[in-house]
Amino acid sequence: MWDSLWINCNLCTMQGNGLGAITNGAIAIKGDKISWVGELENLPDEPNKLAREVNQLNGNWITPGLIDCHTHIVHGGERVNEFNMRLEGASYEEIARSGGGIRSTVKATRAASEEELLKAALKRANALQSEGVTVIEVKSGYGLDWENETKQLRVAKQIADHLPINVITTYLAAHTIPEEYQDNGDGYIDSIIEKLPELKKLGLADAVDGFCEGIAFSPAQIEKLFKAASELGFDLKLHAEQLSDLGGAELAARYDANSADHLEYVSEKSANAMAQSGTVAVILPCAFYFLNETKKPPIELFREKSVSMAVATDMNPGSSPCCSILLAMNMACTFFKMTPTETMRGVTLHAAKALGIENRYGSLEVGKIADLAIWDINNPAELSYHMGFNPLQELIKSGKKIIQ
Ligand code: NIG
Ligand code: FE
Repeated sequence: MWDSLWINCNLCTMQGNGLGAITNGAIAIKGDKISWVGELENLPDEPNKLAREVNQLNGNWITPGLIDCHTHIVHGGERVNEFNMRLEGASYEEIARSGGGIRSTVKATRAASEEELLKAALKRANALQSEGVTVIEVKSGYGLDWENETKQLRVAKQIADHLPINVITTYLAAHTIPEEYQDNGDGYIDSIIEKLPELKKLGLADAVDGFCEGIAFSPAQIEKLFKAASELGFDLKLHAEQLSDLGGAELAARYDANSADHLEYVSEKSANAMAQSGTVAVILPCAFYFLNETKKPPIELFREKSVSMAVATDMNPGSSPCCSILLAMNMACTFFKMTPTETMRGVTLHAAKALGIENRYGSLEVGKIADLAIWDINNPAELSYHMGFNPLQELIKSGKKIIQ
């Protein structure tokens, strides 16, 4: 006997290459897993005989719970002053080079207690969840020393004690060079590497990430970090080619990273390498928008080479103060001409792949975790089409109704 069954619904299973749509479908849950999915007419018996609870949906759509695979939601303070500076003409890089940018959030994050960081992060996680997000990735990167980086990661994990949401954590100590190591990026990278075994032992991070950019770390520095991290069994990710092309994405592919993220300036050579290694291209349109970028990531090239594309909010105080995955989907379509089907895959199956959790999440398949978002829509493309409108009707996390 199943615990619950949804009937008279349409499903985006995300199986196959597109949406894997099933109209007039049914889906069942037992415990925290999906136990049956298919066409209503193929149900093996009368609904009432199959499940303890039967839910009628009148043609609404069910998708997998959405996955925001790139966020920095644990941070102290906001950067409204820099927003004003940029409106007056200063560039993101100029602000960073003059001591603002990531470093100003580092100050605020170091000054904040775990309780303060958690309180602020929960508001952001809650906003994401209200739009159907059931899994988030959360990066450190605003502590830039052992004490404060691990503080951020502990807080990231605590989010899941307060909200029914899965948190995948990423160690981003290589976000920028902290003041203490001014002009000594190599020394700072060595100090990060030294602590990796302890980080592994503590189980605080699933992946290691870095920022490969002129205002942060060179490919050689990132490579040293990747070598050490992969030897210890960490998953890898990289902020690559956001502001210039340093070949970071190719490096990420060479180290079998789960994803390379941003990629506005990525080369064809790197895209080829990503296709070969199965490294996901994480597209972050809200940062592109908020920084007034003009150079777009080469979506057509990724499509042509069959590089999987994910879409995420990049929620952070400097380049993307955005807590809306639906808005990220909309912007991926309007700015980059991704199709609504691609963005849907980008926040489900491909986002799961970017986090290395595609065996358990990202599609409606028997045996996967029962994270279901139920939408009051007539067409799945509506999730990419609306702006500032949230059609979520119900959210099921690990088999349990958490929003209805
Ligand atoms: O993903 N690119 C680097 N890191 C963040 C921005 C960090 C910040 O400005 O605070 C990003 O866009
Ligand atoms: Fe980021």
